[in-house]
Amino acid sequence: MHSLLPWILLPGLTYAVNLKPIDLVQGFKNAVDCDSCHALLVPLKALAELGDSAFVQTLSATCQVLKLEDEDVCVGAIGEQGPILSHVLRNISPFGKTATKLCEGTFGLCQAPAVNTFTIPLSPPGPAAKSPPKSTGRPTFKVVHFSDVHIDRQYVAGSDANCKKPICCRNFADEAKPPREPAGRFGNRNCDSPGGLAKSLLQEIASHLTWSIFTGDVVEAAVWDVNRSEVTSDIGLFNEEIARALKAPVFPAIGNHDSAPVNNFPLDDATASFDAQWVFDLAGKEWTHWTNSTASTQVTHFSGSYSIIAPGTNLRIISINTVYWYKQNFWLYDSDSPVHDPRGILEFLANELQAAEDAGQRAWIIGHMPPGSQDAFSDQSNYYDQIIQRYHKTVAGQFFGHTHYDEFEIAYSDYENRAIDTVISVAWIAPALTPRSGNPALKVYDVDPDTYEIMDSKVYFSNMDDPEYQIKPEWKLYYSARDEYGPLVNLGPTAPLDARFWHAVTEAMEKNETAFQRYNEFMTRGAHVRTCDAGCKKSAICQMRAARAENNCHVARPGLTFGDTERQDGIQTKPMNTPTAPAHPQSQCEGAGMGYLLSQLAGKVAREPKLEERMSRLLSQLETTIPGPRVVDEL
Ligand SMILES: *[C@@H]1O[C@H](CO)[C@@H](O)[C@H](O)[C@H]1NC(C)=O
Ligand SMILES: *[C@@H]1O[C@H](CO)[C@@H](O)[C@H](O)[C@H]1NC(C)=O
Ligand SMILES: *[C@@H]1O[C@H](CO)[C@@H](O)[C@H](O)[C@H]1NC(C)=O
Repeated sequence: MHSLLPWILLPGLTYAVNLKPIDLVQGFKNAVDCDSCHALLVPLKALAELGDSAFVQTLSATCQVLKLEDEDVCVGAIGEQGPILSHVLRNISPFGKTATKLCEGTFGLCQAPAVNTFTIPLSPPGPAAKSPPKSTGRPTFKVVHFSDVHIDRQYVAGSDANCKKPICCRNFADEAKPPREPAGRFGNRNCDSPGGLAKSLLQEIASHLTWSIFTGDVVEAAVWDVNRSEVTSDIGLFNEEIARALKAPVFPAIGNHDSAPVNNFPLDDATASFDAQWVFDLAGKEWTHWTNSTASTQVTHFSGSYSIIAPGTNLRIISINTVYWYKQNFWLYDSDSPVHDPRGILEFLANELQAAEDAGQRAWIIGHMPPGSQDAFSDQSNYYDQIIQRYHKTVAGQFFGHTHYDEFEIAYSDYENRAIDTVISVAWIAPALTPRSGNPALKVYDVDPDTYEIMDSKVYFSNMDDPEYQIKPEWKLYYSARDEYGPLVNLGPTAPLDARFWHAVTEAMEKNETAFQRYNEFMTRGAHVRTCDAGCKKSAICQMRAARAENNCHVARPGLTFGDTERQDGIQTKPMNTPTAPAHPQSQCEGAGMGYLLSQLAGKVAREPKLEERMSRLLSQLETTIPGPRVVDEL
């Protein structure tokens, strides 16, 4: 095997990076468990030391050789996110705890390390914390919750909806002509939302005549092809459309897709080409339409987070940027020393909850990523949970999106004993608009005006199988949580749908298979329904009882089950390439990002006998195209 890059040994360099193609190939081939994943990081780090360009070109060429995706997807996804990973690899030891997290988050080869114990500083409870408001039985008011709209402004009706890429329904240069399956005007199950579907959603929201919460992800998931100007114009256009369509305010949160590259939320803005301040500046400016100048300043200073009193209420809405706890935000692997509270989001939340407690207000927390899901770091999830433990009497509700499922996560004061007497809070998760993950849907809550607890949650949806759907989507009530689950748990007529209620529902589902299977169908609004056997049901119920990630029973597995929203053990998706199955069931929210590609790499390298030869040929070709090594600090 000849040496990889002769110019590394150019005279004048006192330090040369030692990387042979065989090391990389062997590294991928051998990567079957946690130890071997750490070992793989050695040649990957060496590759990163050669510079971002060498790193990106090598991995994207490998992605193409292995046919992980079409050329444009390989080149785009790795070209965008690769430099971040390359930066990260240069900064960490291949054998540290951060590396273990990286091996879990990207390759699924390690299990998440045990929580790094840390106590969030919190003030002791004041008098108000002891006496939360009681309901006087006044009539409820409505609030709309929508999420994950993922609008694709390049959606073209009539284009091919059955392409090989992670997202179809665009005029791709290499698309099949004539299209195998022409995309409809109002969407297709292999694609993100066309603009027309977003408009239809806004008309539906307007008909409820009330204010809304929107838990993020405006931008489509063709993540290999997004850039700052597209994200800026997509967000701007949607904000304009909301402002035009809705008379009442909308309180948004930042999603992981609302930056470019996708998930790009650095810990600090040291690397100007990757900062995310432009996202916060944009949100600060545009969200003022529904908030005020104080909230706007918070958005720009607290990385997208703000708090505001909802109109005509004593309810403080605290919107936080949860993307700093997201395993696919590669910046969070950028150091071997732990950063407990990236960008001070947890401190911001605690301060706002304290202010609400002091003022005798109740609070709703809204954010994109639910705290207990498998793609949340268990460290930050644990610290977030400490805040919920302290302030749960002030917190009347928690609302998230991101998973694309209609689901919930319960918090307990004692996770060793998850029972009706230890419940303290529940996180509501809204279904997505994007047809990629089920029928387009939203939630409408009936809210008690004294306690701000949820009395009912009604899901409205538009059924794409309706023959009239492509002419004009019709929105209908899908189900009411009170009507559906109340009878299973003997819910009293004035009792709220609080954490106790939801825990009782999980117990009912344990015993009643029909009830569980209906829930399973509701998760995706009756489309893309996954078969869920006994093992799957067990882990699904475990997830319902885990608003803290370390307790969600998730077991990382390489390749196949990677993905931020993939459901756990035993859950099967429909076979790929059937007209109704999502092209990439593993990656509902993430799309075919770099993490998704890497997760497949290890397995494929092992199954490709000729790879070694091809890869060294490929690497030697790169010699002529790489602009030049990044000179490692001379020693
Ligand atoms: C950004 O993406 C849009 C849409 O794909 C494209 O039209 C535009 O040329 C891109 N801009 C840059 C600077 O690459
Ligand atoms: C904005 O609203 C908050 C309450 O929601 C209030 O405390 C603050 O003073 C308001 N700011 C301005 C400039 O009106
Ligand atoms: C089980 O759940 C179904 C669906 O919710 C319901 O119709 C049925 O009455 C339940 N059975 C029992 C024994 O509670």
